[in-house]
Amino acid sequence: MAKLFQEFKLKNLHLKNRIVMAPMCMYSAGADALLTPWHYAHYLARATGGAGAILLEATAVSPEGRITEADLGLYADEQIPRFRKLTAAIREQGAAVGIQLAHAGRKSRTRGKIIAPSPLAFPTLKTPEAMSETEIERIVDAFGEAAKKAHLSGFDFLEIHAAHGYLINQFLSPLTNQRQDEYGKDRTLFLRRILEAVRKNWPEEKALWVRVSAEEFHPEGLRPEALGRILKNLPIDLVDVSSGGVTGERVDAHPGYQIPFSEKIREISGLPTAAGGLITEARQAEAVLEEEKADLIYFGRELLRNPHFPLYAAKELGVEVPWPKQYIRAKI
Ligand SMILES: Cc1cc2nc3c(=O)[nH]c(=O)nc-3n(C[C@H](O)[C@H](O)[C@H](O)COP(=O)(O)O)c2cc1C
Repeated sequence: MAKLFQEFKLKNLHLKNRIVMAPMCMYSAGADALLTPWHYAHYLARATGGAGAILLEATAVSPEGRITEADLGLYADEQIPRFRKLTAAIREQGAAVGIQLAHAGRKSRTRGKIIAPSPLAFPTLKTPEAMSETEIERIVDAFGEAAKKAHLSGFDFLEIHAAHGYLINQFLSPLTNQRQDEYGKDRTLFLRRILEAVRKNWPEEKALWVRVSAEEFHPEGLRPEALGRILKNLPIDLVDVSSGGVTGERVDAHPGYQIPFSEKIREISGLPTAAGGLITEARQAEAVLEEEKADLIYFGRELLRNPHFPLYAAKELGVEVPWPKQYIRAKI
């Protein structure tokens, strides 16, 4: 059977195929950073469309960690019930469901002060305040608390957003972390402390993913080799490989351009990876898996265009997959 439609197991995470819906901000949260009817329609459509895993968009662990005032949050108990309802509905459609926990740091466009490891502004945005030790503790705790809430919300897996120039990436990158303290001497310390706090509140048997920008497209920025070595020693189960977003650089993106980063990280860290970026066809995805350059493939914009992409992909690769019974009469 085509690899794209083979099962994938990671701890007690069980995917029916290797297709992951990439995390994508919808900027559609209601008051108090709550899920709205838009989110139910959006995520359930991709679950009925046959994706193996639905990964919810960047969801802030604290109010100032939102990218915009319309981002989702998971920092108050009142936010849990709506997530519970959504996770149950997604699972009922046969997909596993995860959430990406994030803090925007200097890339936040919210009102009020914004924070970062160093007081360096992202082009066109406000200058952030350098985080005090107390603030670092607060955010580490916020990730831990959000992990607890994610478990209570019924998520099957958790992803920590350490990519795209957001707060954790700002600590990891030499381009944005100019601190003189221990968080500057060891740029991985902030992420390691967050993972420690998350692991205390996220059951050991549940999978923990980290998304990284494996390539910062800057001569002094991080590269896949360095990141692979960092990731090798972290208490995580899978690396979701992306790139860019740290300095506002222009990137020559083309189909599959991030796959070599995944290959490198997979080889150096020894961890399974999810890879993607401008992958729009079943055969492209299948080739990446066949060549063992990644274990899972994420699809972003293609799934926005076509929620039923997995059903078409199965047909193209000659695999028989069940259709939702309500749609059987439309089966291709
Ligand atoms: C509308 C939109 C919102 C996105 N929001 C997020 C996000 O919340 N977190 C994240 O890590 N990446 C985000 N991304 C990046 C996607 O997860 C994905 O990596 C990127 O779109 C490349 O994959 P694609 O070519 O299949 O779309 C977003 C992309 C789009 C198009």
